[in-house]
Amino acid sequence: MYIAPSLLAADFSCLGREVERVAAAEWLHIDVMDGCFVPNLSMGPQVVGALRDKSSQLFDVHLMLQRPMAYLEAFRKAGADLIAVHAECEDDTEELLRAIRRTGAKAGLVLKPATPAEALFPFAPLLDLAVVMTVEPGFGGQKFMPAAVDKIAALDAYRREHGLGFRISVDGGVNSQTGALCTAAGADILVAGSQVFAAADPAAAVAELRAL
Ligand code: DX5
Ligand code: ZN
Repeated sequence: MYIAPSLLAADFSCLGREVERVAAAEWLHIDVMDGCFVPNLSMGPQVVGALRDKSSQLFDVHLMLQRPMAYLEAFRKAGADLIAVHAECEDDTEELLRAIRRTGAKAGLVLKPATPAEALFPFAPLLDLAVVMTVEPGFGGQKFMPAAVDKIAALDAYRREHGLGFRISVDGGVNSQTGALCTAAGADILVAGSQVFAAADPAAAVAELRAL
């Protein structure tokens, strides 16, 4: 079980210090939004690059972009270890996943709440990570959608049946109650924004989630 604090919930006036506050977590989740695929804007490769030497965490970059293909190389160069794209974006999914792997990064595929687990199956052999969104992408601090728990279980069953090694991550509204539902269903990575960054003691919040 790995915890990935979502930088979207950090204090943007001092991101370097915020990253140090969550150093107890193995991963750092970085949400990238283009104001088109989702109705919000966040950060780009410059921010990833600026934080790279502040952290030895795995940088898990979640691209909420309508056309992510043009930006893969820039995020990899900036320090992304894993790049995750949406099954619902406009670029071709298989081409995206192959292009991510060519950069040397690990590849992830993200499913919005309305997208069924089956949409991921054809691409499963190309994946290091399957990401189940448990809120509509675009904003932090939203309420967990429990219907997504069955999707986690379906992905877990699929990887067992087919002997595949991709990990399953859950993104949105994760706290100790909802996180427990996800780990019971087969999730390996919990993304948590507000739960970790709003805590007085982020290391304790990470430890609590990791123990679920
Ligand atoms: C939503 C983002 C999430 C979000 C999670 O578009 O992908 O990563 O920041 O934040 P919380 O944990 O606050 O729901
Ligand atoms: Zn995210």
